[in-house]
Amino acid sequence: MKNIAIIGAGTMGNGIAHAFAQSGFHVTLVDRNMEALENGKANIEKNLSRQVSKGTIDEAAKQAALDRLFLATITEVEYDITDLVVEAIYENFEAKAEIFRSLDEKCPSTTILASNTSSISITKLAAATSRPDRVIGMHFMNPVPVMKLVEVIKGYATSQATLNAVLEATKALGKVPVPANDYPGFVANRILMPMINEAICALQEGVAGIAEIDEIMKLGMAHPMGPLLLADFIGLDICLSILNVLYDGYKQPKYAPNPLLVNLVTAGDKGAKTGKGFYIWAEGKVQGPSF
Ligand code: CAA
Repeated sequence: MKNIAIIGAGTMGNGIAHAFAQSGFHVTLVDRNMEALENGKANIEKNLSRQVSKGTIDEAAKQAALDRLFLATITEVEYDITDLVVEAIYENFEAKAEIFRSLDEKCPSTTILASNTSSISITKLAAATSRPDRVIGMHFMNPVPVMKLVEVIKGYATSQATLNAVLEATKALGKVPVPANDYPGFVANRILMPMINEAICALQEGVAGIAEIDEIMKLGMAHPMGPLLLADFIGLDICLSILNVLYDGYKQPKYAPNPLLVNLVTAGDKGAKTGKGFYIWAEGKVQGPSF
C-alpha cells in the first residue's frame, strides 16, 4: 500500500493522516470544505512540531511528512490510485453508509474501504457497497499519534486478504493491530464504556465525587486517566452513542446509559470539546470538576 485517503479532518481523521504521512505513505485528507482541511492540517503540524521539540523526530522528518500530505474537498477528490480509504467522520450510521456507497462508486475495485468507527457494524457498512470482502474496521485510539493500538474489525464478509493487507499497513505505522470480530462495541468499547457508565452511576448515587472517583481509578488501577476525565476527553456524546449501540445491539440493561450522562449531553455539556462535561476545560486543559 502506498496511497491512502482519509475522509474527515477532525481529531481522529487528522491523527490518522498524521500517522500514515509520518510513516512514508502518500496521504490525501478529505473533508467537506477547505476550512476543515486547513484546521486538520494545522493540527498535524502542531503535533509534528511537538514531536520535534521532544526530539522523537527531526525537522526534516516533519517536513517530509507534510510534503506527503495533500488536501482535497469531497467534491474534487480523485481516488484513481488509492489503495486504502479510511473513513473517520462522526458516528452516524446513515452518514457513514452514504460515504461508503459513494466510495464504492468512485474507487477502483481493488481499493480497500476501512472505517474508524468506534462501534457501528462493519457488516452493515459493507452491505452499502458491492465489495463487502474489501470492507474492514480500523479503530484507532485517541490521541492517534501516541496510542499504539489499532483494533482491526473483520466484518462478516471481510476476506483474509483484506485483513492481512490492513494488518501489514497498521504495522508499517509502528502500531499494533489486534483483530476482533464484528459485534456491537467490538472489544475496546464493549469493555471501556460499561466502566465509564458505572463510574457515572457511582457519581449519581453519591458514592464519591468526580475527582475522588477518578483518583481512585487512576491510582488504584494504574490507568493514565480516571474514567470521568476519559469520558470528557473522548466526548460525552460519543460515549452516549456507543452505549446506545451496545444497548440496542445486546438488549441487556447492563448497557443502559446512565440518565446523568443523557442529561449532560442533552444540555450540551459534551466534555473537553465544549469546555464543560464532568470537568471545566480551558484550552484543552482541565480546570477542575464542574459540579
Ligand atoms: N498528539 C501527539 N502527541 C501527544 C498528544 C497528541 N494529541 N497528546 C499527548 N501527546 C504526547 C506528549 O507529547 C507526551 O509525549 P512524551 O511522552 O514523548 O513526552 C505524551 O503524549 C504524554 O503527554 P503529556 O505529558 O502531555 O500528558 P499525559 O502524560 O497526561 O498523557 C495522554 C496524555 C497520552 C492523553 C494520557 O493521559 C493517556 O494515555 N490517556 C488515556 C488515553 C486513552 O485511553 N485513549 C483511548 C480513548 S478511547 C478511544 O480513543 C476509542 C473510542 O472509540 C472511544
